[in-house]
Amino acid sequence: MKLFYAAASPFVRIVLVTASELGIADRIENVDGMTTPMNANPALADANPVAKLPTLVTDDGQALYDSRVICEYLVSEAGNEAMLPPRAPERWTALRNLALVNGILDAGVLLRYEQAYRPAELQWSDWKDGQRGKIDRALDELERDMAALDGTTLVSIAAACALGYLDFRFSDDDWRAGRPKLAAWYDDDWAKRPSMTATVPEG
Ligand code: BEZ
Repeated sequence: MKLFYAAASPFVRIVLVTASELGIADRIENVDGMTTPMNANPALADANPVAKLPTLVTDDGQALYDSRVICEYLVSEAGNEAMLPPRAPERWTALRNLALVNGILDAGVLLRYEQAYRPAELQWSDWKDGQRGKIDRALDELERDMAALDGTTLVSIAAACALGYLDFRFSDDDWRAGRPKLAAWYDDDWAKRPSMTATVPEG
C-alpha cells in the first residue's frame, strides 16, 4: 500500500499510528504528498481529486481517503474489531467521539493555515477565536468523559494525535491547564508509546 504522506499532517499521523498499533505498518510505503490549499500536489490530486492528505492507494490500486475511511480499511485488513465497535449502540458512540476528536484537528489545521499562509493584514481574529473555541470545548468534553478514551481504539489514537498536534503547532496555548485527566492520559501513556514516538513531527 502507498500512503501519500507529510510528516507534519496530524491526519497522516493518525493513519501511521493506527497501522503501527495494528502491527501492519510494514505493509505501508510512504510517498511524499506535501500539498497546500493554494498548490495541490499533482500526484496526490491524480489519486484524490480534492488533493487531501492522507490518501492511501491499496495493493489493488484503489485510492482511499480520508483518514477515517483509511483507518476503517486498515482495521478491516488487520481483522481487529476492538479498534472500532462493529455494532450499535457502541458504534454510534465511538463514531460520535471520533467526530469530536477530528473536529479538534479540523479547527487546529484551519487555524494553522490561517496563521502560516494568510497574509497577516488579512487575518481575522474573531475567526481564529472561533476555531480556538471549538478546540477548547471539545477538550473540555473529553476531560468530562474520559471513558471515551478507554483502550486502544481509533478514538484514542485520533485523540493522541490531536493532542500531539496542539503541542506541535500551538505550544503557547496550554491545553493541559484545567484538564489534569486528559494531560495524564496523554503524557503518562499515549505520548510514550512506540507508535507515537516514531511519528513525532519535526520542524
Ligand atoms: C502542518 O504543517 O501543520 C500541516 C501539514 C499538513 C497538513 C496539515 C497540517
